[in-house]
Amino acid sequence: MSTYNLLLLPGDGIGPEVMAEVKRVIEWLNARSNVTGHSFSVEDEMVGGASIDANGVPITDETVDKALAADAVLLGAAGGPKWDELPFEQKPERGLLRLRKDLELFANLRPAICYSALADASSLKRELVEGLDILIVRELTGGVYFGEPRGITELENGERRGINTQVYTTSEIRRVVRIAVELAAKRQAKLCSVEKANVMESGVLWRQEAQWVFDNEYASSGVELSHMYADNCAMQLVRAPKQFDVIVTDNLFGDMLSDAAAMLTGSLGMLPSASLGAADESGTRKALYEPVHGSAPDITGMGLANPLAMIGSFAMALRYSFDMGDEADRLDGAIANVLERGIRTADIMQDGMQKASTEDMGKAVIKELDALVA
Ligand code: IPM
Ligand code: MG
Repeated sequence: MSTYNLLLLPGDGIGPEVMAEVKRVIEWLNARSNVTGHSFSVEDEMVGGASIDANGVPITDETVDKALAADAVLLGAAGGPKWDELPFEQKPERGLLRLRKDLELFANLRPAICYSALADASSLKRELVEGLDILIVRELTGGVYFGEPRGITELENGERRGINTQVYTTSEIRRVVRIAVELAAKRQAKLCSVEKANVMESGVLWRQEAQWVFDNEYASSGVELSHMYADNCAMQLVRAPKQFDVIVTDNLFGDMLSDAAAMLTGSLGMLPSASLGAADESGTRKALYEPVHGSAPDITGMGLANPLAMIGSFAMALRYSFDMGDEADRLDGAIANVLERGIRTADIMQDGMQKASTEDMGKAVIKELDALVA
């Protein structure tokens, strides 16, 4: 029997509500540890506004140390209007960005899957999105999010100047492209690398290095590599999204394109994500799993939040951190079955369906899990 250590960082807004439903799933799995051979120990810590209120900083050094030591981190959400006026360096989001940077989680996997039960909740026509299964691989520790110089300065003429730097090195591009090619090889074997090589030098380098990795390391992988400008990619995502299998792109373009891809699936409340670091000698990677949605202050505490993105993020943890593919498939299957049964949280509610609270939804997933192992 092996025991994995999970660090739970529920964070702000609806974060704690959706995390409570994941805890239900963890308990369910622990009750089956005699079958799976794995159990989980969990520890709760604070991040974001919650940590600012308690500790004065968006994440403490101790919590970062615990994240570094954990087998995986699950994060709910960080941020909210209460902390919007804080100086930039003290904002809740800095807690999340520090975790990404300190754990070197350079590859962010954001799958966008459209369940057929939800195809009518998409902003696009059913035929454009039904069966959609895209994976966006976003670079997460470089680019304009972290580039130097950055800041706001006063100019002599009385104006102010805000500056951020888009910067990438060979190794930063190559390592994330490798992960994307390997994931594509296990899917439909189509990889699209996205940048703005028509206006940015960092984009020219991105395109060259993506091609280099492909030509030198994966020429016989069976994967097909294409390149696309980011603006065109945004347009193609809303025109004909099913043309894509895996997209690999930088931090900022990945942030934007993944929000667009998310909405194609019907709701931001459905999308999980995994952020992975480099594999060590034993093949294990630092990893953080979080829903793509934010803290949703407008619906906090009302039982309206959809916990499926958070639960789906835990399914990704089972798959990528713990090699528990069967359990991950079962959990993903339970999510799909709940939707097939017409159970819906407010964000995906449709006529004739059964309205569920956050807690109802979590319990419905457990019921499906029970049925799947019965
Ligand atoms: C995301 C979010 C974050 C980002 C924010 C909260 C810092 O939008 O994970 O997509 O911009 O990366
Ligand atoms: Mg975002």
